[in-house]
Amino acid sequence: MSTVNTEKLSSARFAEATDAFVEEFTASVGFDQRMAQQDIQGSLAHAAMLCKIGILTEQDLADIQRGLAQISGEIERGEFVWSIKQEDVHMNIEARLTDLIGIAGKKLHTGRSRNDQVATDIRLYLRDDIATILGQLKRLQLALLDKAEQEAETIMPGFTHLQVAQPVTFGHHLMAWFEMLCRDQERLQDCLKRINIMPLGAAALAGTSYPIDRHLTAELLGFSRPSFNSLDSVSDRDFAIEFAATGSLIMMHLSRFSEELVLWASAQFDFIDIPDAFCTGSSIMPQKKNPDVPELVRGKSGRVTGHLMSLLMLMKSQPLAYNKDNQEDKEPLFDTADTLINCLRAFADMMPHVKAKRQNMYQSAKRGFATATDLADYLVRKGMAFRDAHEVVGLAVRLGLESGRDLSELSLAELQDFSSTISADVFDILKLEGSVAARNHIGGTAPAQVKQAVAAGRLLLAC
Ligand code: ARG
Repeated sequence: MSTVNTEKLSSARFAEATDAFVEEFTASVGFDQRMAQQDIQGSLAHAAMLCKIGILTEQDLADIQRGLAQISGEIERGEFVWSIKQEDVHMNIEARLTDLIGIAGKKLHTGRSRNDQVATDIRLYLRDDIATILGQLKRLQLALLDKAEQEAETIMPGFTHLQVAQPVTFGHHLMAWFEMLCRDQERLQDCLKRINIMPLGAAALAGTSYPIDRHLTAELLGFSRPSFNSLDSVSDRDFAIEFAATGSLIMMHLSRFSEELVLWASAQFDFIDIPDAFCTGSSIMPQKKNPDVPELVRGKSGRVTGHLMSLLMLMKSQPLAYNKDNQEDKEPLFDTADTLINCLRAFADMMPHVKAKRQNMYQSAKRGFATATDLADYLVRKGMAFRDAHEVVGLAVRLGLESGRDLSELSLAELQDFSSTISADVFDILKLEGSVAARNHIGGTAPAQVKQAVAAGRLLLAC
């Protein structure tokens, strides 16, 4: 019997050594070594289960535990020697284990395959990363709540079509961002439910002939339950796609926040100041202070959406069960997680230091006839049909435009020319403060509502 190429764990069947380029081309150890600790965690649970059902002896288990503990330490200290000869993280660790402990190392792979092993490792890995992402997301949500509370009374223009529409409070605007992140948080939690199901035990594709106890392994690894179909278990990457889709939504939100911050930091808007620590200068224009952090986050949203597309295309047309194509899931997934963690962190660090230029926001809201709808509503309360009121206010706005004045700066006599029902109390609602205070219902922009929304947000995050 030929023993060519025996240093490679899966090679006895082969009479020829793998082509050197193919070896490099097919290896994943360069990137999947990131899952090493999860691979060890999975192996420890698998070994404990094999011992419980009598496949491994207590001595085998003790050797495996000792060997894997040493390997874990070597990896953490950066001493572990990764080799593309062993193709991926799983075979590198198994080969090293056998070097260290001998025969028990060779027994570890009983009743499993790299196909269920890799599916388990990615799920464990994503579970850990999602916990980190949720942590950063919460930091950002808390920063928004604090800011919204400080800015509950701050008046700014609200926009539609990027044209001044109606006055809103800055706190209300910030709480809109908070709402988006609440949905993102829910989506992550929901996607976690499907990630937290254990494929281990599906083996290569059909299950195994050993009397394995998958409930025990699932319990040891903190999975909610074992998966129900072995073919599906080794081939399913829906959870990866869901994670990338959730990540794309988060990045889309961060990109929208970024766009507003970039606009508001411009000299034309001049609504906010982004602290120097989050900006950079220009190499040629000495006056420049560029909002790099939001710009970069806006740019990075593209790559995450790209990863979602790659994963969808990766899975489309794959027949059951495992195919090597699946090895391509890792880089987009890892990059999605890294990008999310970094972008959320940058935003959570930056937001507490973003300063509202309250005066400028106020002046800008005043310039745009933002209380025109309030005047129309006032006329409706005095008995005019809304369409007629809309028309009348249009004429008042035109007078304001022609004479360079806001509606609140027109005289009572001038206003009464448009409708005799108008009396002096009109100026309460033409003031920006009156306009925002009037929108005092759940979901409205009134400072009182913003404060309530902040309090509700704090309660939500506390549990
Ligand atoms: N490196 C592989 C992956 O990432 C592990 C599973 C390989 N299984 C196999 N039968 N070739 O998907």
